[in-house]
Amino acid sequence: MKIVPANSETIARAVRSLRSGELVGIPTETVYGIAARAADEAAVRSIFALKNRPPNHPLIVHVTDLQMAKGVCAEIPPVARRLVQEFWPGPLSLILPKAGAIPPVVTGGLDTVAVRAPGHRIAHALIDALGEAVCAPSANTFTHLSPTRPSHIQPEILAGLRLVLDGGPCASGIESTVLDCTFDPPRILRLGALPRARIEAFLNMPIAIAPPGAGRSPGQHPRHYAPRAEIRIVPGVDAAMPGLVFGAPENARQMSMPTEPSGYAERLYDELHRLDALGVEVVEVQAPPEAPEWEAVWDRLRRAAYKPRES
Ligand code: TXA
Ligand code: MG
Repeated sequence: MKIVPANSETIARAVRSLRSGELVGIPTETVYGIAARAADEAAVRSIFALKNRPPNHPLIVHVTDLQMAKGVCAEIPPVARRLVQEFWPGPLSLILPKAGAIPPVVTGGLDTVAVRAPGHRIAHALIDALGEAVCAPSANTFTHLSPTRPSHIQPEILAGLRLVLDGGPCASGIESTVLDCTFDPPRILRLGALPRARIEAFLNMPIAIAPPGAGRSPGQHPRHYAPRAEIRIVPGVDAAMPGLVFGAPENARQMSMPTEPSGYAERLYDELHRLDALGVEVVEVQAPPEAPEWEAVWDRLRRAAYKPRES
């Protein structure tokens, strides 16, 4: 079996695999990732191939702490240092000028790099034991739904991994917030698990979302994070339809969702994976409140529901 419980022995195996250029599935507090040594160009290329990801869609580099981030970034401005102190380890990826040690393949040729310290003890222990940064995109094929449990990882992705460290279900359930610190004030490239309001409260200023296309962030791809099933966002879910609802489910393929956004985010991909596994073709999602604290959930729902206009 490739999926193994995470412990000191399997973490040591994962470190050896990474050192020999192989890819490893790792838990983080947001979603499961595919790790490779950030300095290993060939391994990083194999991540792009495995995910079927266009080469100009940059990866996030994962570190243990600020000290390790200094080897990844050419410069860490004061505002980024303050954010690191407050929110790391955690679901905040910062865009900063790239250091020479990071091969261009990691950043799709950009002179900036995304960096974060994951708030999951297994991810932390692995990077710490390796002693160097890893890149880790979500462990799904391009535009599909990220896995929040090892069992969600698609067979074609699993085939390219040496092993997957099983660290249980992910606590946040949606990807990290990506904040571009090469802008003053910083701006959001991808809404995510760290609420915008917490960054605003900490910096004591409003934080804008970058317009689509800015910063070349594929997290801004209109169809991203999509399950196999068609998603329809509706005011009320039909009693006979598969769906995500607030309140009591009316059939076995309806899931009752938490009424508070972080609990909802934690469950969202898990429920969509579950409905996909049941072979459901259409999922009705009861619209959550149109309130700022729901914006990251709304972002994922809209992208999951996005249908390219027929030409
Ligand atoms: O929560 C997460 O961030 C997960 C876990 C595994 O850590 N990782 C993740 O990676 O979501 P990925 O590759 O699926 O998404 C990376 C996001 C994309 O939206 C990408 O465009 C953005 O980060 N990104 C990375 N480097 C960038 C850069 N230099 N400039 C702008 N955006 C960047
Ligand atoms: Mg992804």
